[in-house]
Amino acid sequence: MVKLNEMIIEAKKYIESNLVDIPDIGMILGSGLGVLGDEATNKNVIDYSNIPNFPVSTIEGHKGRFIFGEIANRKVAIMQGRFHYYEGYSMKEVVFPIWVMRALGIKKLIVTNAAGGVNTDFVPGDLMLINDHINFMGQNPLIGSNLHDFGTRFPDMSNAYSSSMRDIAKKASADLNIQLKEGVYVSMTGPAYETPAEIKMARILGADAVGMSTVPEVIAANHAGMDVIGISCITNMAAGVLDKPLSHDEVIRTADEVKDKFIKLVMAIIKRM
Ligand code: HPA
Repeated sequence: MVKLNEMIIEAKKYIESNLVDIPDIGMILGSGLGVLGDEATNKNVIDYSNIPNFPVSTIEGHKGRFIFGEIANRKVAIMQGRFHYYEGYSMKEVVFPIWVMRALGIKKLIVTNAAGGVNTDFVPGDLMLINDHINFMGQNPLIGSNLHDFGTRFPDMSNAYSSSMRDIAKKASADLNIQLKEGVYVSMTGPAYETPAEIKMARILGADAVGMSTVPEVIAANHAGMDVIGISCITNMAAGVLDKPLSHDEVIRTADEVKDKFIKLVMAIIKRM
């Protein structure tokens, strides 16, 4: 069996051979937030399907690609589309792109997602800076042999969403007069949305937003010594907050409505990184 670190290096080499400039900032765009990729200039697009060892999408019409380019004069690697645990990928497949980005030399990561509002002070359309997370997936991408080249067996997670990077995000939002809420993100596996009882539990445990992604990638990024900024787009109130059913249509609609604000904020953050 080919070792995981060899698979990572092979993927990294393929990408490197297709790039002129190696980026120093990585970005993952969540559901409905992919439009940010259009803002990049000097683009070089690489479909995930062309990268050796990248997880194979089994879902019809599911596209995923890296956009390498420039935003605010910074070289960025943008993931348009991520691998979700609920799609059936293993945790190692979910975080494989993080390891590849780190192998490329990327040390700063911006992760974004669509999330449900658990904090009842939030409203759909809010942007939330993630200041910490609760891993409720019952899984961890680092289980198994440790990738010593990337990091230690027992990585520290006490500054998982780097406080200095959070300061940059807060400064960017203040300068732009864009309201940025702040709070704790709890990850569930999905794909079913949560029940009202689960959301009540999440609130008691200290969560402000809930979603089905991000935490695995952030764990892998921290292990590999990357500085992380996390931003949730609150696309809906979580189950039981309002007297109405949840739907993916609402998630996509709200993400689309906030995209201008979201793009402005992220571009301003990149500029200050
Ligand atoms: N729950 C879980 N994931 C989500 C939600 C939610 O309410 N909204 C967007 N992603």
